[in-house]
Amino acid sequence: MTPVEQTTTPATIAGIETPAAIVDLGRLAANLDRAASYATSHGIALRPHVKTHKSPVIAREQLRRGAAGLTCATVREVEVMSDVTNDVLFAYPPVGGPRLRRLLSAPAKVRLTVSLDSEAAIDALAATAAAARRTVRVYVEADVGMHRVGVTSADRAVALARRVAGKPSLEYAGLAFYAGHIRQPPAAQDERLARLNDELGAILDALSAAGLTPTVVSGGSTPTLWRTHELPAVTEIRPGTYVYNDRATADLGVCALDDCALTVLATVVSTAVPDQAVVDAGTKALGREPLDDASHAGFGAVADHPDVVVSRMSEEHGILDLRSTSWRPATGDLVRIIPNHVCVVVHLNDVVYGVRGENVETTWPVAARGRT
Ligand SMILES: Cc1ncc(COP(=O)(O)O)c(C=O)c1O
Repeated sequence: MTPVEQTTTPATIAGIETPAAIVDLGRLAANLDRAASYATSHGIALRPHVKTHKSPVIAREQLRRGAAGLTCATVREVEVMSDVTNDVLFAYPPVGGPRLRRLLSAPAKVRLTVSLDSEAAIDALAATAAAARRTVRVYVEADVGMHRVGVTSADRAVALARRVAGKPSLEYAGLAFYAGHIRQPPAAQDERLARLNDELGAILDALSAAGLTPTVVSGGSTPTLWRTHELPAVTEIRPGTYVYNDRATADLGVCALDDCALTVLATVVSTAVPDQAVVDAGTKALGREPLDDASHAGFGAVADHPDVVVSRMSEEHGILDLRSTSWRPATGDLVRIIPNHVCVVVHLNDVVYGVRGENVETTWPVAARGRT
């Protein structure tokens, strides 16, 4: 069996074998344009995170619109994206021999930057880079409130920057952070952005006092995207989700549901039980991703009936709760479901269909799929 089950592109969505990931090409282009023109108009470098789309086709569109380079979380993403850019940031701790050796095997033409937060990572990266006879640029990663990775004090940032600067195979290039804890509507982010400005300021002051002023300050997420210009220190942003958006992003008030470009096309396979319809998209098509606001139910919403959510799932079954609507889909009908978390859904697919209305215009492989 080939990895892509359906090899010919059907003319309309009625010919797509479901469940399938379909992308509204008009919405995708609008999302790409909006972020590119925001970054350009504010003089901020856009280095999109490819974890959302994992596709050189979309990456090329981002670069064509002025992206300065790409951000990756896996080595597979680095390898695939090396075909479309010479400038890659690996924004994941470069820890573990197999990961490091494979990373350093990226084509020599690629300017490789890595963000990290430990002496162990610096020393291993320096040794592997030296063995590979290449120089790797390094961003020191700071934790600014998400409490995931990153050093938690300015002193630690200085210590790591100094250690990087002392390694002949490494180049100290900047400071990185990820404000993944800021998940409010843009208008409600004032307090957290002010705190972030203060924390960044303290780290940057300490680095400058040590003679280690970073040339790049790399941040950015989709929820904070449109307010980046209020973080004057930031020179580069790495949003990922913005290309497709999803129900979680809309639920946060960061985009409208109509900005969600990717939906899961599903077929109603049963209406036998009253007040519900069962579609062929369960956890293996939608993931089991909750919304931030736990009071907002469901694992996805029907695009044309957003009050109808996928309330329960088995692996291949999604249960649409119809109790609050008069809409009654028939067995065999196609529905489009806006997933809660699009990045996970993309990762569950070998191929994505590009559509305009009912017409299928193109397909592209999720070429950088895989955990590693
Ligand atoms: C380090 C890092 N940078 C950037 C992003 C992109 O953020 P978003 O998906 O909110 O656009 C992520 C997403 O998880 C991330 O982990």
